[in-house]
Amino acid sequence: MSRTPYIAANWKMHKSVAEAGEFVDALLPQIAATQSDVVICPPFTALTAVVERRYGTAVKVAAQNMHEEDSGAFTGEVSAPMLVELDVEAVVLGHSERRQYFNESDEALARKVPAALAAGLEPILCVGESEEARDGGQTEAVLERQLQADLADVEDSKLSEVVIAYEPIWAIGTGRTATPEQAQEVCAFIRDFLRERGAAADDVRILYGGSVKPSNAAELMGQADIDGALVGGASLDPADFAAIVKAAG
Ligand code: PGA
Repeated sequence: MSRTPYIAANWKMHKSVAEAGEFVDALLPQIAATQSDVVICPPFTALTAVVERRYGTAVKVAAQNMHEEDSGAFTGEVSAPMLVELDVEAVVLGHSERRQYFNESDEALARKVPAALAAGLEPILCVGESEEARDGGQTEAVLERQLQADLADVEDSKLSEVVIAYEPIWAIGTGRTATPEQAQEVCAFIRDFLRERGAAADDVRILYGGSVKPSNAAELMGQADIDGALVGGASLDPADFAAIVKAAG
């Protein structure tokens, strides 16, 4: 198996333009030797600051959301071609905070994922179960429903271009990381689902997200089906994020 590790920094609604620039300047020398894909997901307002600093490096830049239409009367929204114009390469879709607080629906995601691919953006599709669903033994059912719905209109041959982030909601921002075994079990389930859907499943990068820190990153990413991490809180500090990048090998 030779999947390139994929480590993404999800800054959420953190960092001004000035702070984003300082972060990238501090991070780059610490990860100069990495062979992994390193992706920074700043707020829209700081995309250009990060894009401009990372030219000539291995760092890629992702937005945290997009609208599925190229343009139109959608006040407050940003489209895939607008992101591509900024030299953004990827986009986080379906983060649980968007599903929970902004009514992001599986129907919308079913349109957003193919729209991102069509525009040349790499989608990072987030899926994950609530604590209630896990306690009720519904983890796999929830994930299957999300994957089925959100990827419904992606051609089988394109499925391996989607990065999947498994983020159990109960582990996000709580300090309660899934155990490596729990995370591996679900990531293996996701890979099996993709294989059954007709994907080149061994090529798909599947990430774990939820309270990833320098102290637990190596063990999580050492699991057979975990190819990287989507990091929230610990991605705000360049030294912590660099340590997580290094933990990927
Ligand atoms: P966390 O967030 O690392 O702060 O738990 C992860 C995420 O929401 O992507």
